[in-house]
Amino acid sequence: MFSKKTIKDINLDNKRILLSVDYNVPGDSRGAVTSDARIKASVPTIDYLLDHKCSITIISHRGRPEGKVVSEYSLEAVAPILSKLLDKQVRFIDDCIGEEVQIAKQQLRSGEILLLENTRFHSGEESDDLDFAKQLADNEDFFVQEAFGNAHRKHASMDAVTHFLPSVAGLLFENEVDTITNVMNKPTRPLMAIIGGAKIADKIEILNKFIEIADFIAIGGAMANIFLLAEGIDVAKSMVSLDDLPLAKQILAKAKARAEKGNFTFYLPQDSVVASKIDKTAQTRIVDWSTHVVSDIESYPALPPKSSQQLKKDEMILDIGPFSGAFIAGAMQLIGTVVWNGTMGITETAGLQGPIGPFAHGSELIIEAMLGEFGHRPFSLVGGGDTAGYLEQRNISDAFNHVSTGGGASLELMAGRGLPGLSALEDKNKGVQ
Ligand code: 3PG
Repeated sequence: MFSKKTIKDINLDNKRILLSVDYNVPGDSRGAVTSDARIKASVPTIDYLLDHKCSITIISHRGRPEGKVVSEYSLEAVAPILSKLLDKQVRFIDDCIGEEVQIAKQQLRSGEILLLENTRFHSGEESDDLDFAKQLADNEDFFVQEAFGNAHRKHASMDAVTHFLPSVAGLLFENEVDTITNVMNKPTRPLMAIIGGAKIADKIEILNKFIEIADFIAIGGAMANIFLLAEGIDVAKSMVSLDDLPLAKQILAKAKARAEKGNFTFYLPQDSVVASKIDKTAQTRIVDWSTHVVSDIESYPALPPKSSQQLKKDEMILDIGPFSGAFIAGAMQLIGTVVWNGTMGITETAGLQGPIGPFAHGSELIIEAMLGEFGHRPFSLVGGGDTAGYLEQRNISDAFNHVSTGGGASLELMAGRGLPGLSALEDKNKGVQ
């Protein structure tokens, strides 16, 4: 149960609300927004506040401008999108503090919305500066925290601002924390974690956590490469960070120790899709690391050729192979809950996405299994910016039980780390007004 106060726990009628959201949305070099998912996700809370006749001042960060004004990270481009989603005028001001902002806040009426410029254009945001936070809080009655994606950052709009205003969670924030915490604390078992993406260094904590609590872990994406290398496989030109080799060996040892006790599988790809270039015209091959199932069938009755078991010097691993995808999808028929973070192959390159993408088959097979295409449908929780981005780009996010709007924040919550943006809010059992 969510232990912090939310907008439903207090009387907000006709109040001035400072609303913090995560509009750290992707954009092109001119700042145009290329995905409105995070903007859409904030609408239910804004609608709730409008229903309660609040006036709303919205703050957010975008990108990493490091305390300077960087036009491609402006939030100006968000205003017309939000305005369209709400069917309501949204006034934008090109700063988040200062005289113009304070006057605009004083003049804001019930039902009106102000969107302020990127908080990270001021260094006080990332340094969690109290003076900066006080200026954000000036001329407001309540602070509503809806920026779940930023909850792992101890920044002024997440932490210091709560020193100046009674502070409660928005609907998205509560739902994210509740869903992720429930899955980690009391999942419908068996629990499967599918972990992909680029580097183990970024996911070391959740790998360790899942080795403790999951029943089945499947590894894919570029992350699998370092484990295959640790198992003695030559990964040729595959993306791999050699510095992570000791880490990979440590995780493998931990996973093997847990597996020896029974009822636990740590599954590395048994076959991979490989090519010498990341291109849709690339000649792909399937290389079979351990079972030889694929190549046995291909070359029956002869023994599989050596080439089907190893990479050529100029080749790289770019997706899990069909056997591995089928194995994970098959295992999923017995699974109660799946947590998925990180795609299985190259899915981010334009022109290579979707079912016909040469390196997206592994991810697509897993998506089908998660959505019950093979009969059984487990509870599905998807986290991580790239994975969520892929589902959004495929326009299938709504089909999953929960797709988190948070990347780092969802990983840290899954790993059991405290979130500064969460702990700063009022406890449910504390009087707020
Ligand atoms: C995110 O997109 O993960 C959050 O908005 C946090 O952004 P950051 O990683 O730049 O702090």
